[in-house]
Amino acid sequence: MFKKRHPALRKMTLPASKNALSFAKLAALGLICSVLVFILYFEPPSPGCPYSSTLADEGNDEGAAPDEKPIVLLWFWPLGVRVDFKICSTYFKVDSCVLTDDRALYNKADGVIFFHKDIDWHLRNLPQDPRPAFQKWIWFHVESPTNTLKIPGLENRFNLTLSYRRDADITVRNELTLKETEDDFVLPKKDKLVCWIVSNKDPGTGTSVRDKYYSELSKHIKVHIFGKAYGQFLRYEDYYSTLASCKFYLSFENSIHRDYITEKVNGPLVAGTVPVVLGPPRENYEQFLPSEAFIHINDFPDAKSLADFLLNLDKNDEAYMRYFDWRKLYTATPHLLSISNEFIHPVCLACDHMSRDKDFHVVQDLYKWYFSE
Ligand SMILES: *[C@@H]1O[C@H](CO)[C@@H](O)[C@H](O)[C@H]1NC(C)=O
Repeated sequence: MFKKRHPALRKMTLPASKNALSFAKLAALGLICSVLVFILYFEPPSPGCPYSSTLADEGNDEGAAPDEKPIVLLWFWPLGVRVDFKICSTYFKVDSCVLTDDRALYNKADGVIFFHKDIDWHLRNLPQDPRPAFQKWIWFHVESPTNTLKIPGLENRFNLTLSYRRDADITVRNELTLKETEDDFVLPKKDKLVCWIVSNKDPGTGTSVRDKYYSELSKHIKVHIFGKAYGQFLRYEDYYSTLASCKFYLSFENSIHRDYITEKVNGPLVAGTVPVVLGPPRENYEQFLPSEAFIHINDFPDAKSLADFLLNLDKNDEAYMRYFDWRKLYTATPHLLSISNEFIHPVCLACDHMSRDKDFHVVQDLYKWYFSE
């Protein structure tokens, strides 16, 4: 039922400090390389020198060996935030392509990733034709249709889709994985009943459904609120521990669409908290998660019945603990938290995909696909 994740994507934790350290190292190395390159009068930088921020560990001679790693070019840094490509190999164990942001490599790139939100309305910031015949354009978008601008002229330009949807060519998800080691789950200490972290309550993004539900629910049960939307900003380093201190967590999606089941569910599953979900129907969740790992608001006629149910579970440890039975078989993997890091995972997945996919591919009518429910 659950896709077994690529073995490369297992077991991951990235201490922020280590990350920062490698940035510093990379910056220093970059400086040294630049100086060297300058001294050598435009001699090509030596392999391994992150001169143009290319994750290459082999020379890039022409007349390449047939099994050389594909070049994957990230055309925009998502939302303008640069990240170290090395996270793909160090954290996600993906090392099967040469990732670069160097547009000078465009004509050689096997795949080019375009972050939808950064594409100009008039497409002025896309590469001009001609386009190399072997090259695949990858549409990178992880927002729901409600929060997607239909930029005209993109309908028939791409070869691969990179999205949270299960029917995308490259699917970006936090999946449960089969457990490899035996360990007994110990319930974290709880001092709150229901929590919710909410950074956005702009009704323009589709949030009115969840806002209404929350205001009804909170009449019947206390909800601890964190997050930007209510001026209670939670630091990234406190995210998992805060979730762990709550018995239930409101995993309320901002808009309701098939497969749009985000890190809002992954967080509590990782932390040892029961997600109470608002989003697509229960059946859709069950395509990704064991049915008894979460509580769905549609299981109840109204918010008051849900509140009563949670209050009862609070008094019944045995029934509550059953929501963790899935842990005997599966593990949830922590997702990366900062904006800069959350976009690197899809890029690594695209890299991994490009090293395996040698087929001709065309996306016919992108929006028809994306906006069909
Ligand atoms: C990629 O898509 C474009 C536009 O649909 C198409 O012309 C091209 O042949 C495709 N290339 C590959 C390698 O699939």
